[in-house]
Amino acid sequence: MHSKILILDFGSQVTQLIARRVRDAGVFSEVHPYDVSDEFIKNYGAAGIILSGGPSSVTEGDTPRAPAAVYEAGVPIFGICYGMQTMAEQLGGKVENGLVREFGYAEVRARGHTALFREINDFVTPEGHGMLKVWMSHGDKVNEMPPGFKLMASTDNCPIAAMADEERRFYAVQFHPEVTHTLQGEAILGRFVHEICGCKSDWNMPDYISEAVASIRAQVGDDEVILGLSGGVDSSVAAALIHRAIGDKLTCVFVDHGLLRLDEGKMVMEMFANNLGVKVIHVDATAQFMGHLAGVSDPEAKRKIIGREFVEVFQVESGKLSNAKWLAQGTIYPDVIESAGKGKKGSHTIKSHHNVGGLPDTLNLKLLEPLRELFKDEVRKLGVALGLPHSMVYRHPFPGPGLGVRILGEVKKEFADLLRRADAIFIEELRSTYVDPHAEKPQSWYDATSQAFAVFLPVKSVGVMGDGRTYEYVVALRAVQTQDFMTAHWAHLPHELLGKVSNRIINEVRGINRVVYDISGKPPATIEWE
Ligand code: XMP
Repeated sequence: MHSKILILDFGSQVTQLIARRVRDAGVFSEVHPYDVSDEFIKNYGAAGIILSGGPSSVTEGDTPRAPAAVYEAGVPIFGICYGMQTMAEQLGGKVENGLVREFGYAEVRARGHTALFREINDFVTPEGHGMLKVWMSHGDKVNEMPPGFKLMASTDNCPIAAMADEERRFYAVQFHPEVTHTLQGEAILGRFVHEICGCKSDWNMPDYISEAVASIRAQVGDDEVILGLSGGVDSSVAAALIHRAIGDKLTCVFVDHGLLRLDEGKMVMEMFANNLGVKVIHVDATAQFMGHLAGVSDPEAKRKIIGREFVEVFQVESGKLSNAKWLAQGTIYPDVIESAGKGKKGSHTIKSHHNVGGLPDTLNLKLLEPLRELFKDEVRKLGVALGLPHSMVYRHPFPGPGLGVRILGEVKKEFADLLRRADAIFIEELRSTYVDPHAEKPQSWYDATSQAFAVFLPVKSVGVMGDGRTYEYVVALRAVQTQDFMTAHWAHLPHELLGKVSNRIINEVRGINRVVYDISGKPPATIEWE
């Protein structure tokens, strides 16, 4: 059994980052709502508990508090921002409603030589004080420490910026160590979990495989499992993992709706059926999808049709596998956390995975979700450890409705064929052009962007090729950089690269005579055009 860290979520936007940082330190951690029961805390077996930040104010009566059992569990506790304030208030200190909000960069002076900060600093002042460069985001602040606590750090604005009761191993900071702007955040969280909680670094993906394989075997026994393989990272890694566990008892269904990227079907079959020996049913449903999409140009209507037909095809194919008792899905941990009712008691509900989304209950299958505990970067590491190629596991995301949302207006097979080829040229050039070719480890523009693709515009414009006039379609290129896909910047691709892509598309894809580059951020634009 791994040692594990329990994170109680008070609703901060960045709680997930705490779990990721702890896992980066090689220690398993999970996020649960702040109002789990005392019983839950007692039975959880945490080696340490972290209280997250949150938007509320402890100075108001009916705001979140940690369960009493947290402070009686006998394990180290680390309060962050709101987590510090609730700890202070619950243990007999005082919190005041700050008149001035403190937001952004700050320098805090470490004090008291506590185990949490010892020898961790960004610089030392001429007077010999260790200083930390941190990120603050708070209105309230602790103005009186609870009995037994001593000062651990301060700023001019916030005299009690961190505090500790080292006897009980309770630590609290007003700043956010989980964000990268806090330069020593990783060192501080690492210090807490390793040295203060005594956790070993025993969480890594190569070792996790044998554990996951054993648990899949225990869960499904001799039953058969079906999985909707989309070619995306999550379903691919889930397929490889389940296949490792139960071999031929897994059957994958790969639905080609005619709106996939160039050679996607070939690549998936090559990888899974030929290389890994996974049973894959390849369904070419292009005609069915195109038939239903004919004459439809409204984006939402198109999405609905694609979703509905996907379920239809999947249902027919899975109906043929009469022994299957389980439906496997590539649900990952952020899906699980996001769908857990914020601040509500009780167990997590599951959001249906959007790529094979909305598969109906009438399938009468039990759900197998072997990636439920993993973050995206862990899923990728697991994929590599399972032998999937790096280029597949680190691919940009691709939406479930595929090229259906990248062909504006009515979808036609002819448009999809043109778009596929233009898109493939764009991606090929991004992969083979480096941001800085002289860097020690050159990074391709593909890896330097979060998502890049071509969009088909069903308008014709005039061009000239050789001695002739052309009257053909337009393709827009889109490339964005983003952390979370909620907001995004357009990528500043070099003009030479854009020029080369444009030349190649116009020369190699007959039917397209103009290429434009999308320079809109999100917001106000979205990443996809539909
Ligand atoms: P937007 O266009 O809303 O997209 O800025 C944000 C991210 O979500 C992806 N996306 C989808 N993914 N099914 C998916 O699996 C969908 O229906 C869907 N729509 C958008 C999009 O590619 C981008 O990464």
